[in-house]
Amino acid sequence: TQGRLQDGQGRRIEYLRLSVTDRCDFRCVYCMAEDMTFLPRAQILSLEELERIARLFVAQGVSKIRLTGGEPLVRRGIVELCARLSQLPGLHELVMTTNGSQLERLAKPLAEAGVKRLNISLDSLQADKFKAITRTGELGQVLSGIEAARTAGFERIKLNVVVMKGRNHDEVTTLTDFALQRGLDITFIEEMPLGDVGRERGEAFCSSAEVREMISRQHRLIDSDESSGGPARYLRVEGYPASRIGFISPHSHNFCDTCNRVRLTTEGRLLLCLGHENALDMRDLVRRHPDNDEPIREALERALHHKPARHEFAVDGEVQVLRFMNATGG
Ligand code: GTP
Ligand code: 5AD
Ligand code: SF4
Repeated sequence: TQGRLQDGQGRRIEYLRLSVTDRCDFRCVYCMAEDMTFLPRAQILSLEELERIARLFVAQGVSKIRLTGGEPLVRRGIVELCARLSQLPGLHELVMTTNGSQLERLAKPLAEAGVKRLNISLDSLQADKFKAITRTGELGQVLSGIEAARTAGFERIKLNVVVMKGRNHDEVTTLTDFALQRGLDITFIEEMPLGDVGRERGEAFCSSAEVREMISRQHRLIDSDESSGGPARYLRVEGYPASRIGFISPHSHNFCDTCNRVRLTTEGRLLLCLGHENALDMRDLVRRHPDNDEPIREALERALHHKPARHEFAVDGEVQVLRFMNATGG
């Protein structure tokens, strides 16, 4: 039975986030511990398995796939995977979220392989602060990567900023101007408490309302009801028609009611919601049924029935999800 995917709440599932690796050349403070151990090769999905699962979702009505990580561009063969996925009939949008470190070399090949849009993390424009946040990243390399992406022919480029007090909240307007001057979109993200949340992270929390207030002191903001099919709410800025400013506010604005997505971890666990542990082991399914998709499709439909109605990151101050972001795929 080919068709549409729906969850138990009647929400249509049209967006798949595929984490293609848990590895990364950065160690961002909100995403990873300083000394991470990564998954052994046999535990992660092969490129062939990733393609097979993607094909199955697209046949069931998924029209948008976002490749994430870790850092997707450190996975060998990623450009070839993109070229194959972008050919899948029924897939309207193949997009990627990246830290930008490899874009100087890979922006052009990715655009040619059919990746339509890029989201690039950029938390600071000051080399020392950038280093403090990413622990291992070089700002110059990412800025060159952004430049390469701008000329590579993507439909849209969006910068992602996780705003943290004491780290980069004083750069909100500088980062905004950087995006506006280049006609890029920019999204400010409230930090989510995944992984090991120390006390320090809680105190760094900066709400989207505060960020908006900072920007509105410099620019006239215009409300907009546009959506990219994700959790972001967008504003326009007077005088800069090419850019949008987005806010992802998991703490102050719950977007679960319109959730249209599921995510596949590097190990092939299909997570039904970012804030819950419910998952379907798709790696086991594809390895047990090498030439028959039917049992996988059936398991998928059953699992979606149990997609949670909403996320709960913290209940009475107790953190529920201890997974790190890099294994989850953002
Ligand atoms: P587009 O809307 O397609 O541009 O993508 P996006 O903003 O959803 O994707 P991106 O990978 O750039 O993620 C930006 C932030 O949104 C990250 O911090 C993600 O963890 C977060 N995010 C994405 N999807 C969800 C979701 O379903 N729930 C929650 N709570 N956060 C999400
Ligand atoms: N909270 C919010 N956003 C996060 N990201 C990574 N970890 C977190 C977190 N704990 C963001 C990065 C990247 C995107 C995939 O997820 O900024 O742009
Ligand atoms: Fe790497 Fe992205 Fe995690 Fe930073 S947020 S460590 S760039 S996967």
